[in-house]
Amino acid sequence: MLSAKLTAALNKQINEEYYSSYLYLAMAAYLEDQNLDGCAHWMRMQAQEEWDHGMKIFDYMIERGGRVELSAVAAPAKEWDGPVATFEASLEHEQYMTKNINALADLAIEEKDHATNNLMQWYVSEQVEEEAQVEDIVKKLEMMGADGPGLFMMDRELKVRPTPTPLTGADAGA
Ligand SMILES: [Fe+2]
Ligand SMILES: [Fe+2]
Repeated sequence: MLSAKLTAALNKQINEEYYSSYLYLAMAAYLEDQNLDGCAHWMRMQAQEEWDHGMKIFDYMIERGGRVELSAVAAPAKEWDGPVATFEASLEHEQYMTKNINALADLAIEEKDHATNNLMQWYVSEQVEEEAQVEDIVKKLEMMGADGPGLFMMDRELKVRPTPTPLTGADAGA
């Protein structure tokens, strides 16, 4: 059985993952408005991944006999100051999410819950990957300059990001 403390913390993390999904969707809408459909597509795919991150915890809690409780998802920002600032904000958000995951792993260890700690280790690795990915995009965007042919090329590159493989459900790992 999941402890009350971990149940509350995992429910909070589900909310954080859905907020992330919502935030990236807001970034996608903003980037579409800036006619950067490649950047917007990348954010859409990111939003889908965050949705799956929420579902992975959702399913795990049910498997452990925990009670999932959903709470209101906060409204994300609507505007950023151009594509570089948007990806910078995304990197900052991922760094914040890494802190949340680390705190959850700490709590799992404190509660001697090895299964939850094991699940959190998956998220720890995922965060390393996500931070690296966004950092790479920020660096490239900065290098190329925030406008002109560089941005056009970068937008084209980001347009080919494939749909993420579902983490849960019938198609998981397919
Ligand atoms: Fe996530
Ligand atoms: Fe993320």
